[in-house]
This record gives sequence, structure tokens and C-alpha cells, in this order.
Amino acid sequence: MSGYDVPRFGHGSRVPGWDQAADLTKDPAVIPDSATTLVPETLRAGIEAAMAKYPERRSAAIPALHLAQELHGWCSPEAIEQVACVMRLTPAYLISVATFYDMLETRPKPRNDVFVCTNISCSLLGADEFYEAMVAAAAEDPDVGVRSFECLGACDIAPMASVNGEYVGPLETEDAAQIIEDLRAGGPVLEAKQLRFRRSVDPGAVGP
Ligand code: FES
Repeated sequence: MSGYDVPRFGHGSRVPGWDQAADLTKDPAVIPDSATTLVPETLRAGIEAAMAKYPERRSAAIPALHLAQELHGWCSPEAIEQVACVMRLTPAYLISVATFYDMLETRPKPRNDVFVCTNISCSLLGADEFYEAMVAAAAEDPDVGVRSFECLGACDIAPMASVNGEYVGPLETEDAAQIIEDLRAGGPVLEAKQLRFRRSVDPGAVGP
């Protein structure tokens, strides 16, 4: 499958089972019992802080799932249970959120995420070539997942990518190998090209 293929099910949708009726013979969904669900303290505190920002606690579902994904590596059944327990929501509700959003994974994923923007501004400036170079550079590394993405909202540094959430650009094909090297070294990635150091983002930014 190329990076541009959108997986679709038989009924034409990206969402499995949307055309199947609910099974009314199943037990009703339950919220995990806080007395029997172990939740790491840091995760609990992070989720509670996220919920405190919104009048409706469900609004914190995405940040809460991100925190759980950071901790567990993916939105595993255990991670979902823990978030559901703290938020007093059903796991089914959180699974519906996690399966809808691209940056939440309900299957095990590589530790590092490289999202290459291949939308119009980036594409016009060579994103497709960079994407191919990035896929090739990461081919032997099971710890790095490379995906093409729609506009990541940083067109002024096109062509760009998000590496574990750090925005870098403008990219050239030789940067692909450097990204892999920097990830393996465990330090900053393409520090000189990080968006955070651009004066347009932070006039007081001190360069790397
Ligand atoms: S088109 Fe790539 S960041 Fe907008």
C-alpha cells in the first residue's frame, strides 16, 4: 500500500461496521470501577488537569487520550480503560473518539512518529520527494513510523514534517537521514530547522 491509499471497507467507508445494527443483546456499557482500575498517578493528574479546562468533561477526551497514548505507546485497551475510569465515561465512547482521529492509534505503533505534510503548499515545494526519502530512510527502523499528512498548519516552513510533535522545515531530501540519526541519538531533531526557533513564532526565541 502506498502512503496515499485510503483504506476502505466493503461498504465504501473508512469506518468499520458503521452499517451494522447495534447488538441489543449485549450487556450495557459500563464505566470502569475506580476501585478496581489502576491508573498511574501522573496520568490521572494530567487527565484531571485537562478536564478542568472545559465546562463539559467530555471535551477533554482528545488531550486525555493523547496523554494515555504517550504513556502506553498507543491507545491500548488498558489505556482506554484508565482514561474512561478517570473521566467517568464508557470505554466505547473513548474508542469512538480514538478511532476517528488520525493521531490517536488503537493498534500498537512505532515509538517515533514522523508525519510528512504532503498537502498543497508542501507538495509544490517538494514534499512528495521528501516523503519518499523519509520512507526509504526509515525502512529499516521499526521504531520510526512515517505517514503522509494533510496540511499540518505550518505552510510557511514548507515542505515540513512533524517529528514526535516537533515541527521542522523547510526540508530537503538529505534531512530524512538526519532525522533518523537524531531520533536514534535521542536528542533534538533537526534543531536548526525547528519551527519553535523562528522569530515569526516567538520574537524572543533564542536559536539553537
Ligand atoms: S501544506 Fe504543508 S503545512 Fe500546510
